[in-house]
Amino acid sequence: MTPAEVIDRLLPSHLQAKASSELFAPSNIALCKYWGKRDRSFNLPVNASLSVSLDYLGTHTRLTPIDAEVDEVWLNGQQLLPSAKFSQKVSAFIDLFRRQQDLYFRVETRNNIPTAAGLASSASGFAALTLALNDALGLDLEPQLLSVLARHGSGSACRSVFDGFVEWRMGQREDGLDSHGIALDAEWPDLCIGLAKVDAGEKAVDSRSGMQRTVETAHLYQSWPLQAAADLEKLHQAIARQDFELLGQTAEQNALSMHATMIASWPPLLYWQPESVAAMQTVWTLRRHGVPVYFTMDAGPNLKLLFEQQCRDEVLRHFPDLETVEPFGSR
Ligand code: DP6
Repeated sequence: MTPAEVIDRLLPSHLQAKASSELFAPSNIALCKYWGKRDRSFNLPVNASLSVSLDYLGTHTRLTPIDAEVDEVWLNGQQLLPSAKFSQKVSAFIDLFRRQQDLYFRVETRNNIPTAAGLASSASGFAALTLALNDALGLDLEPQLLSVLARHGSGSACRSVFDGFVEWRMGQREDGLDSHGIALDAEWPDLCIGLAKVDAGEKAVDSRSGMQRTVETAHLYQSWPLQAAADLEKLHQAIARQDFELLGQTAEQNALSMHATMIASWPPLLYWQPESVAAMQTVWTLRRHGVPVYFTMDAGPNLKLLFEQQCRDEVLRHFPDLETVEPFGSR
């Protein structure tokens, strides 16, 4: 069984495209990380994860059918060559939907994530592309199925199909139909996320290869599924009780535990730069002075700070260039 065979069964055999569709999906920050796959071809995770979507920060994707034999891919207003890595990824994903049919698109992708913030855009990118294909092809699929489909583009994209707090249930099935995001019925109006940029350049080792290297070479990785399961539980409690200290502490320890497994890989994977460590120390100093601020980090050198509205001024005083987002801000 291949992903293409599983997806083929979910879609109507004959497809017709609308004149144009444009959809948006938010970027998301994981508080309990997805790190490691149990199946690489289906993008199935070793552990469940939990994220918060970034409201209006993310990707807008417009699809227009074109009379051509290849997709025309645009990124942030620039047309890319069909041989570009990004175009290839986008077309390979659309192939799962179009199968043998002659159905090509102009794909216009715009990320409104501040490029300087160093945030990954693959999660919002594949989620927006999935939502746009669902609309363009009149598929009318349920959100959970859209999340399953987005997961095939990039694992973390299955969480970006939803707003707010989202759990990615790892599932058990081999075909991955039970491995998708679920939106939690919870809000946290005072929650703020700060994007502390250390370096916006492209990273040498992307998340996909980084997690594979960790799974294959780090003995320490054996403890990761247990850590992630315990953290997921704590995050659910923190969200239910609006216990910010528990949320922040769990997210920070989860991120550092993930980085510990990366560092224990071979060749070692250290995404931190001296400025990343300096920023961590600033966060720890702030906490020692009674300011409840925590951080999380993904496969890169930038920090994402977690704090509540009432500490905003104090945090900004120490991180003057911080981009801030309120995940539940526009509700
Ligand atoms: C560290 O979703 O980018 O950001 O499934 O291989 O495309 P692929 O990986 P990706 O990995 C994200 C890893 C992470 C943690 C997270 O977002 O949960």
